[in-house]
Amino acid sequence: MWLKLNLKDLLTGLLPLIKGEIERGLSSLRPLPNPLLHKEGEPYRIFLLLAVTILFFGCRQDMHDQPKYEPLEKSDFFSDTRSERDQIEGTVPRGELREDTHFYNGKVDNQPARTFPMELTEAVVKRGQERFNIYCSPCHDQLGTGHGMVVRRGFKGPPSLHIDRLREAPVGYFFDVITNGFGVMSSYAEQVPVADRWAIIAYIRALQLSQHANVSDLPENVKKELESESQRGSHE
Ligand code: HEC
Repeated sequence: MWLKLNLKDLLTGLLPLIKGEIERGLSSLRPLPNPLLHKEGEPYRIFLLLAVTILFFGCRQDMHDQPKYEPLEKSDFFSDTRSERDQIEGTVPRGELREDTHFYNGKVDNQPARTFPMELTEAVVKRGQERFNIYCSPCHDQLGTGHGMVVRRGFKGPPSLHIDRLREAPVGYFFDVITNGFGVMSSYAEQVPVADRWAIIAYIRALQLSQHANVSDLPENVKKELESESQRGSHE
């Protein structure tokens, strides 16, 4: 059998019960060791509870409205009313001074550098080869002749890296092209960190040499190998 209760029955029946609970609960509260409470007794505790509750509800601070300045917001704190403050003179972020213009800008005495800012090792050239094949060969192709896949699909063809002008160009010039772009070629500064740009340039120099070496530049053992090969070729 279902109990039929309407709202009024519920309230009249339940209210005294709830009221009894609340009263029992309140009377079981022990006085707080608080100097503000001189007297023991309900009214003080209830008043304090209410006051604290109201206080906290009044202090609502939404996450999306944080107490900070928006960019260029007016400030009432600084006398010039600008919240954007000038940097303190002479301060630089640590490790970001970039004083070494040879390394960071490819410039020496404001001219394109003619030398590398670091020691050239096999590891550097290998790193350059890897980076060149990733970032440059799509257009310049792996040999640097300018017939990469993107060019074969219709992009403007770059000049070969083996033309006299680019063989004679200082290394700082290549640094500038990679960093700032050139004509329709965009900048690769975002993709290629500074040290990698130099590694790529080292590899471009190796590529250029590979297509323009003189026999007299070769080490003795390679020279001999080449001679015996060409002799064999002439007998056949
Ligand atoms: C999306 C294709 C593309 C990629 C990738 C690309 N280049 Fe180029 N590059 C070009 C084109 C096109 C030109 C010619 C731009 C012009 O004349 O407007 C060029 C020109 C150059 C030049 C010759 C500038 C001159 O004085 O004639 C150099 C050097 C060069 N690129 C180096 C690089 C290096 C190094 C990379 C890799 C970090 C690279 N490029 C990546 C398309 C590309």
